[in-house]
Amino acid sequence: MKILVIGSGGREHTIVWKLAQSSLVDKIYAAPGNPGIAELAECVPIKSENIGELIKFAQNVDIVVVGPETPLADGIVDELPKNKTFGPTKRGAMIESDKSYSKKIMRDTNIPTADFETFYKLEAAQKFIKSNRTYPIVIKASGLAAGKGVIIAETEKEANVALSTMMSEKTFGEAGDKVVIEEYLEGEEVSVLAFTDGKDFIPLVPSQDHKKLMEGDKGLNTGGMGAYARAVLTEKEVGNIVENVLAPCVWGMKKDGITYKGILYAGLMITAKGHKVLEFNCRFGDPETQAILPLIDSDLMEPILATIEGNLKSVKIKFKNEYAICVVLASAGYPGNYEKGKEITGLSKVPTNGCTVFHAGTSTKDNKIITAGGRVMGITGLGNTLKGAKDNVYSAISKVYFEGMYYRKDIGDKGLS
Ligand code: AMP
Ligand code: GLY
Repeated sequence: MKILVIGSGGREHTIVWKLAQSSLVDKIYAAPGNPGIAELAECVPIKSENIGELIKFAQNVDIVVVGPETPLADGIVDELPKNKTFGPTKRGAMIESDKSYSKKIMRDTNIPTADFETFYKLEAAQKFIKSNRTYPIVIKASGLAAGKGVIIAETEKEANVALSTMMSEKTFGEAGDKVVIEEYLEGEEVSVLAFTDGKDFIPLVPSQDHKKLMEGDKGLNTGGMGAYARAVLTEKEVGNIVENVLAPCVWGMKKDGITYKGILYAGLMITAKGHKVLEFNCRFGDPETQAILPLIDSDLMEPILATIEGNLKSVKIKFKNEYAICVVLASAGYPGNYEKGKEITGLSKVPTNGCTVFHAGTSTKDNKIITAGGRVMGITGLGNTLKGAKDNVYSAISKVYFEGMYYRKDIGDKGLS
C-alpha cells in the first residue's frame, strides 16, 4: 500500500517511523515532512494548510493519515474519499477546534469536567468576572490557538487582561470570538488516546505531557517539552476512562449526526474528586505520540485500516511491557522568538538500540542538519523500567549538540516519585 502522511513535526516523524515497519506498507509519502522523515519517506513540498494540493496528491495513494489538527478542522477529510482517509471530519474535529462545542458535549453526556460558562460578548464575560470570587480561574479561547489559548488568571485584573487580549485585541484571531471561562482544577494531568471507528475503542498506553518550559512545571507554556508513557493510570483505570469519557463523547457526537472516526484524545486532570476532562483533541498528541508509538509491538497499519473500515472490533494492539520517555530539545528563546540555522551534531552517536530521534523543527543546509524551529527534535528512550528509560534517553541526549540547545532534565520524574 502507498501511504501519505500529512504534517512535518515530531508526531508525524513517529507515525512515519512506525508505518515504515508495517508489512502492509510499500511506500510512504510525507507532506511536507522534515529531514528525519526524509530518511524513511518521500517528502513532497505541500504544506499541511494547502488542502487543494493535498487532495490532488492524495489521488496517488491508498491511505491518507492526517497528523495535525488544522487540516482536520479545515475539513480535509470531508474532501477526500471516505474509504482512504484516517481522521475525523470537519464536524468531528469540532471536539478540538471549538471548546464551547466540546464543553456542550460533556455537559449533555455527563462527562466529568470543570464547571464552565461560554461567552460570545466581551461585556458579558467581564460581568461574569466581576461577580467571580474564586481564583485562579481559567480563560480559554474557544478555537484553535496552537496550545496558547489557555490563560490561568490569578486575579480579577489578569482575567480582564486575558479577556481583552482574546476578545477585543484578537490575539488568537477568530479563535477568541468565543471564550470559555472555567473552574480551575488541581491534580495530576494525563492523556488517554484511543482509536475509534465510532463504535468501538482501542485505548493506547496512557501518557503524561510536560507543557511548561522549565523543570518543576515552571515558566511559560510550550507545545510540550517531553512526555512519558505509561503514566499515572492503570490499565483498568484506562478502561474506565474509555467507558465514562471517550464512549459518551462519541455517542454525544453521534446524536448530533457526527460519526467520529480516528484518534480521540482526552486530556484529563486526576483530582481529589476523581478524573475530569480538560480538553479533547481530534488527533494524536505531540509529544505523547513520540512516547506511545515506540511501545506498540504490533502493526500500526492494522488499527488505522480497521478504523477507516469501521471494523475496529476485529483488531488488537499489542504493547511492549516497557516504558518510554521522550525529551524535546528546543532552540534558545523558545517559546518566544528563537534562534534558527544552528548546526546539529552528534546524531549518529545516538545508540539505535532503545533510542530513537524524532525530528520536528529541523532543516538541511550544505548536507548538514540545522535547527529550523522552536522544538527541534524529540529523543525517545525505552526501558524495562521508567528509570531505565530515563537513563537511556538522557545518555542519548548527551551525544547531541547545537548552540543554545535547551531541554528539561526532569521528564518522567513525576512517574518515578
Ligand atoms: P487545554 O488546551 O484545554 O488542555 O489547556 C492547556 C493546559 O492548561 C492544560 O494542559 C492544563 O495544564 C491547563 N488547564 C486547562 N484547563 C484547566 C483547568 N480547568 N484547570 C487547571 N488547569 C487547566
Ligand atoms: N500534547 C498536547 C497536544 O498534543 O495537544
